[in-house]
Amino acid sequence: MTPSWSIDRTIGAPSKTQTLGHFTTGQLLRLCDVAGLAREDAETYARVLGAALAPVDRRPLDLPPPFSTFLSDDHTPVEFSLALQPGTAPAVRVLLDPGGGAGGLAHSGPRGLRVVRAMARHWDFATDHLDALEDLFFPPSPAGPLALWCALELRPGGVPKAKVYLNPAASGQTRAAATVREALRRLGHRHAFDALPQADRHLFFSLDLGDWEDPRVKIYLAHHDLSAAEAAGLSRTDGGPGHAEIEAFFRIAAGYDADPADLGAMDGHDPRLGRRPVQSCHSFTETASGLPSGFSLYIPVRDYARHDGEALDRAVVLLRRYGIDPAPLIQSLAAVTSRQLEDGVGLIAYLALAHQQGKPPRVTVYISSEAYAVRPPVAALSPQAEAVH
Ligand code: TRP
Repeated sequence: MTPSWSIDRTIGAPSKTQTLGHFTTGQLLRLCDVAGLAREDAETYARVLGAALAPVDRRPLDLPPPFSTFLSDDHTPVEFSLALQPGTAPAVRVLLDPGGGAGGLAHSGPRGLRVVRAMARHWDFATDHLDALEDLFFPPSPAGPLALWCALELRPGGVPKAKVYLNPAASGQTRAAATVREALRRLGHRHAFDALPQADRHLFFSLDLGDWEDPRVKIYLAHHDLSAAEAAGLSRTDGGPGHAEIEAFFRIAAGYDADPADLGAMDGHDPRLGRRPVQSCHSFTETASGLPSGFSLYIPVRDYARHDGEALDRAVVLLRRYGIDPAPLIQSLAAVTSRQLEDGVGLIAYLALAHQQGKPPRVTVYISSEAYAVRPPVAALSPQAEAVH
């Protein structure tokens, strides 16, 4: 794999003469620096990202986004995230839409599969679980909002951990629940579907591929107009996060409680998040118990903050609650953009709490590339409880 672009370690606003590949791989290299990855590994990952995006990696940024993707608000087919835990270096992950663009979802699904299978051959990991589900998630005339996304966790050593995200609504929204149930059944998780909480929509079906200790099957659900108290009741894990922990995370991320000391000071005031749904994710790692072994909650902070300075403040409060040093997050934001945080909203897309049995809780922060657009800050937010459509 020879890159057609040179590697840029300087930070800047997207320049019109730059290509999408050049811009996003520059961001990735700088994030790898923050995470303390070796230069050689970082360059391997940059090449992988460029190759996965091909041919649109060569597209100049003065052209519009190559295709519309639900992956990010400005249709950059790349999003970064940091998984943070106390006392360890942050893990950098990159989520990408390898659809290639041309021909809509019917073409981007098979192309995404080719990209994932090429990665699997390259790093010698199995795709049998994905292969077993191909007919379910890749029908001849697929519906939106995605075909296949792929995420890579950039580990030291140059071999990433991989995940694929599939669309339960590929055969239509009304078939989504049945598709999830059947996919879980084929993977041996016969009772998993019944363990899931009530939700408005099945959003993603995700598989871990590659060298994972306990590969997970993950089900993402969307919850419209959710309140903190309702979020607290979503987890179906045994001994997972308690109600108070989930509620506190929700309220701080959504901006109801500026300070953990204020918790409980809201006198039962429990507004609902009506602008963009909160998401939950349950992960399944064994088939015997029928119970999930992990639970995550994703708060789309960008729709509930005026600007990214505010979103970062909330992230810092949350990280401190978990005993996590916020410095790598602050450096990571500076690694992807040179703009002022107050000058836009959406650089921080989601704040998430992730619990996996046997591991310390993690806070994950989703960082937009903003290759195509920065959403302007808002002067004031209407009351959280009001849905804005
Ligand atoms: N952009 C979509 C959304 O905001 C999908 C997505 C991208 C997403 N990254 C995510 C969803 C992280 C949850 C968490 O919903």
